[in-house]
Amino acid sequence: MSDYLVEVNNLTKRFPIKGGLLGREVSAVKAVNNVSFKIKKGETLGLVGESGCGKTTLGRSLLRLIEPTSGEVKFAGRDITSLNPSDMRDMRRKMQIIFQDPYASLNPRMTVGGILAEPMDIHGLNKSKDARKRRLQELLDQVQLPSDALNKYPHEFSGGQRQRVCIARALAVEPEFIVCDEPVSALDVSVQAQVVNLLMDLQKDLGLTYLFIAHDLKVVEYISSRVAVMYLGNMVEVAESHELYGASRHPYTKALFSAIPNPDPTKHVDRILLEGDIPSPMNPPTGCHFHPRCWLASEECKANYPEVTAQSGTHEYRCFNPIQ
Ligand SMILES: Nc1ncnc2c1ncn2[C@@H]1O[C@H](COP(=O)(O)OP(=O)(O)OP(=O)(O)O)[C@@H](O)[C@H]1O
Ligand SMILES: [Mg+2]
Repeated sequence: MSDYLVEVNNLTKRFPIKGGLLGREVSAVKAVNNVSFKIKKGETLGLVGESGCGKTTLGRSLLRLIEPTSGEVKFAGRDITSLNPSDMRDMRRKMQIIFQDPYASLNPRMTVGGILAEPMDIHGLNKSKDARKRRLQELLDQVQLPSDALNKYPHEFSGGQRQRVCIARALAVEPEFIVCDEPVSALDVSVQAQVVNLLMDLQKDLGLTYLFIAHDLKVVEYISSRVAVMYLGNMVEVAESHELYGASRHPYTKALFSAIPNPDPTKHVDRILLEGDIPSPMNPPTGCHFHPRCWLASEECKANYPEVTAQSGTHEYRCFNPIQ
């Protein structure tokens, strides 16, 4: 079997925009365009890019929480985009998601015990009273919450603890893969590190595989073995995280990472300030979508969309005039 747990080929998601009397499709938001990547079992692939570039849409469509428009998503070698609802339900147990806002994603009227038991009920796990009790305790231990948490309600916890509840809920069904959609962005900085470290410890102990979406590039560098960069629905570069920070080839990646403050004053990094706004995904620029903001753009970039260049087995980018 292949080393890869997740293989995504040409995944595309368009949100149709309907208008007129007949409600015809008048336009579409091209949120994710022909994105392909792989995630090895047990690794963390980071996913970064400006707001609105399609990170959440990608994460959700690869779990089929929203239906992809086209493309293939293979999980453990099996294409899940063609599974019927009952097979998909079994598959869903193995693929979970953690959201940014731990409060909005917890039902305020349910106790933590109820919240953690619900996914087990849905998937028919730990049915006997004893097994259920043992498993609930094990989940609390795994996310380092006290035993009395089971009878409490979400509002009785801090933001960091609520995110631990969300992590425990995802773990309740023994998943193999978790999409972490900005799981620490809404938390205090002091708590972010604790939750990130918890996710890393759980990964080691349980052999989990993550797609880790984040705005904070430092957090992504810390947790990810590889990082993918998205711009306006396209994946423009993927590389080992240390390589992306030090030796990115795509100008957009370079600009994104040059914005990170460098604590070492001996290493001066020129900040690259991008001009212009992010174009609309309803009407993206021709050719390479980044060309109107790119200081290296040539005529070719306006006319054609660059194919993937593989620099090594792990570093790929789409650019006609890469940084040397
Ligand atoms: N249900 C929807 N209907 C129409 N357009 C949508 C829908 N969901 C997302 N979009 C659009 O798709 C694009 C990608 O959105 P998405 O939420 O995936 O971006 P993101 O990278 O996760 O942004 P952020 O960093 O702000 O979370 C945006 O232009 C957004 O407005
Ligand atoms: Mg998002």
